[in-house]
This record gives sequence, C-alpha cells and structure tokens, in this order.
Amino acid sequence: MTTDVIVLAAGKGTRMYSDKPKVLHELAGRPMLTHVLHAAKQLQARKTCVVTGFQSDLIRNHYASANDVGNLVWVTQSEQLGTGHAVMQAIPELDDDDSIVLVLYGDVPLVKPESLQGLTELAIEHGIAVLTLQTDDPFGLGRILRDDNGHVIGIVEEKDASPQQRQIKEINTGIMAFRAALLKSGLQQLTTDNAQGEYYLTDTVAIANTAGVTIAALQTNDAPQVQGVNNRLQLAELERTYQIRKARELALSGVTIMDLNRLDIRGDVSIGRDSSIDINVILQGKVRIGDNVVIGPNVTIIDSDIGDNVHILANSHIESARIQDDCHVGPFARLRPGTELGVSSKIGNFVETKKAILGTGSKVNHLSYIGDSEIGDQVNVGAGTITCNYDGVNKAKTVIKDGAFIGSNTALVAPVAVGRQATVAAGSVITSDVPDNDLAVARGRQKNISGWKRPVKK
Ligand code: UD1
Ligand code: CA
Repeated sequence: MTTDVIVLAAGKGTRMYSDKPKVLHELAGRPMLTHVLHAAKQLQARKTCVVTGFQSDLIRNHYASANDVGNLVWVTQSEQLGTGHAVMQAIPELDDDDSIVLVLYGDVPLVKPESLQGLTELAIEHGIAVLTLQTDDPFGLGRILRDDNGHVIGIVEEKDASPQQRQIKEINTGIMAFRAALLKSGLQQLTTDNAQGEYYLTDTVAIANTAGVTIAALQTNDAPQVQGVNNRLQLAELERTYQIRKARELALSGVTIMDLNRLDIRGDVSIGRDSSIDINVILQGKVRIGDNVVIGPNVTIIDSDIGDNVHILANSHIESARIQDDCHVGPFARLRPGTELGVSSKIGNFVETKKAILGTGSKVNHLSYIGDSEIGDQVNVGAGTITCNYDGVNKAKTVIKDGAFIGSNTALVAPVAVGRQATVAAGSVITSDVPDNDLAVARGRQKNISGWKRPVKK
C-alpha cells in the first residue's frame, strides 16, 4: 500500500505577530514544518504534498536544498477557504485511488510517527480514520460525534455546535487518513454551508458515514503530540514539553542529568553511559558524546564528536570539533570549527582554537589563540601564546612538532614551524622556523641600569 502525505501550511499565522511564516518558527532548533516532514518521512511516503498560501516563497526557498525531508511536492492554495479546500488543491497529485492519504498540519510539530502509522493501518482497514484526543479543554476545537454504539458519525466545529455538543470532550486533532478514492468523493460533496462559510475537511466524516463507511478513530491522551501552535506562548510551552521529554529519555538511558528543566537538545544527540550533564547545557545539531563524559554548567556543543572520559568544564563553547578520549577542555574555552584534540590533550581557560589539530597529550592551558595550526604530541604551549595566522588578506599555517615547548607570551608569525623538542623563550616573536632541539630567543635583551633614581614630583 502506498501512502501520500498532505501537509497543510497555508494559514496566515496572524497570532504569531511575525514576518516569518508560522511553520518556519523553530522548535528544538528546527522549523515546526521540518518536524512534521520528518515524522512523515518515517512512513516512507511516496509523495509529500505541502499546501502553502501565505509566504509560500519563503517556505519553499527554505527547503530548496533540504535533503532530509523526503520527496516534496509544493501545492498552492491562494485563498484560504478552509481545510477541505486546502486538501482539494493537492488532489491532482493523488493519482493512485488505492493509496492512503494522510493529512497533517504544518503547525502540529510533535506528532509521533507511531500514531501516523496506526492511523494509516486503520485507514487501510476501514477507508477513513481520525486521530482524536480526550481533553478537559475542548474549547475552539472540532468535537467528535458518536452514535449510541460509540461509532464515529461526524465532526462538528465549535462554531456550529449545539450547547450539548460543546460538552463533548473528545476533539478532532485534525490529523486524518483516507483511502484516496473515498477522500476524493467526500471532497466533491463539501459545501460552505456552515458558520464560517468554509470547506470543512471534517465534513468528509459525516459524508462517509452516510455512505455506510465505518469510521475508525485512534484515540490519544498525549495532548502535546497533537497540539497546534497558534502563538508564541504555545510554541514556548511545546518547546519545554519537548525538552523535558528528551531529558527524561536521556536520564532513562543512563545519563546523569542535573536538572531536567535546564537542558536543551536541538538536534540529533547521542550520549553514552555514565556521562553527566550539569545545568544550562545546549546540545545542537549532530552531537555524539561518549561514555563517562562530564559536562559542566553553561556549555554549548554544536555538531561535534566527543570521545570517552572527556571533561568539559563550565562555560565552554564548542562547534564542529572532534575531541578524543581523556581530554580536558575549559572552563571558558572556545573551540571553533576544525578543532581536533588528540587523546589526553588539554585546552584550558580563555583559549580559542580554530582549524587546530593537537596531538596526544599536548596542552594549551591559558589565554591563547591557536588557529590554522598543526601541533604534534606532548607539546606545551605557554600562557598567552598567539598564532598570528592572518596578515590582513591571507591565512597561513603554524606547525609545532612533537615535544616542543613554547614559552609564555609567544607570537608565532605564520607561516612558521617549530621543530621537535625545540624550545621557544617566553615573550618571543617567532618569524622564522626553529630547527629541532634548538632554543629560539626572539626578544630585546634585558638591560639593568644600576643606581637608577625615580623621578620626584615637582
Ligand atoms: C481544524 C479542524 C478542527 C480541529 C482543529 C485542530 C476543520 C474544519 N476543523 O480547525 O476540527 O479540531 O483543526 O486544530 O478542519 N489551513 C490551510 N488552509 C486553509 C485553512 C487551514 O492550509 O484554508 C491549515 C492551517 O494553516 C493549519 C491547519 O490547516 O495548519 C488547521 O487550520 P486552523 O484554522 O488552525 O484549524 P480550524 O479550521 O480552526
Ligand atoms: Ca488551529
């Protein structure tokens, strides 16, 4: 059975008060629509039609080069005449009457693939299936109408509902699955004869019921999963729900989380056993963290790979870096893209690195800038060392070989190389290569003036 997905995203999102399309507002570091498309992708859909109206171009451009969201087909709904009308716009794309069509909302980001799978299976069996929620707060939503035997017979919108119908606490989440032929014939029979003068997709349920089709309902009691976002308060609330769920998952998988409320996961993150995460940590993009890693408070890690037994101390910022086993980083370290730390190496406080490769056991402990550099094994870089990698136009490389010792406050003017076991005296400005084992001293000689008299105040 093939599945086609239709994602509705044509709404204006007025209550976001934003210049940005609603579905591009981010939850956990990704647009809401991306979450929906990822859930849809897990169903191995044949086509995913996204119906856009307001700010179509911005949405389409955003996904122009995306390769992780399946096979997207863009459909335009130029006037927002209701959910039924939105789905009608995608009908020309549905060329297989036997396929299952799943309707999703671009602003319901936390919907679970398992629910969609369940709904699809029900639609295969019955022809039509709706995802419903039992809630104490049904206000504003479509109510599920059932007959005395409990069979679903229709959906009534809040604005069209009688006072008795408004008492119903089972609501329509909006997520539905249909056999394509049934959807098409239902849409043909829709009218705008209702309180809002819209084509209601929900009316297809009563139409199918009248035609003798048994309507299947999949009930959930997981409200966040089907929560739509209409304003930024709902978005912020859903973000917290998502984050605490992620933190719980990690805790249950063997990671010590100091405070479930103060961890933010914005991407694909994996963390090994016995690792611990202190408060206010942000893990973003693709992050892999090994076993027995200690992450201090206020650390941000973006798109990085971290080995086992690594300590990352407070307030460090790490992006596109690779840190091998047993390293120490921070506090207050900034590892920029292209940093690679060898086993047991150490980056201390107020050190910035960029495109810097450190060998095994090397140390840059204090107040340094190491950029475009290749540093061997067991190298010690003293406090305040700067690689002068930029002449205002071009970047140049610094090479420091195994066992070298760089004295404090050294400026290494690249391109330059320091040989194996070489020593650079503190305060040197190194402008030419230092041979293996040599001592380089490149600073003014000290002169002592004896009997010096300090000036006195006139
Ligand atoms: C709809 C359902 C209601 C359900 C509720 C769940 C109908 C008639 N009603 O309510 O039963 O409880 O969702 O949130 O289906 N959209 C378009 N084009 C349109 C209209 C809407 O693309 O012309 C999109 C919106 O961008 C949004 C989604 O469809 O993503 C739902 O629209 P919205 O207006 O929020 O839902 P309601 O119609 O109020
Ligand atoms: Ca809504």
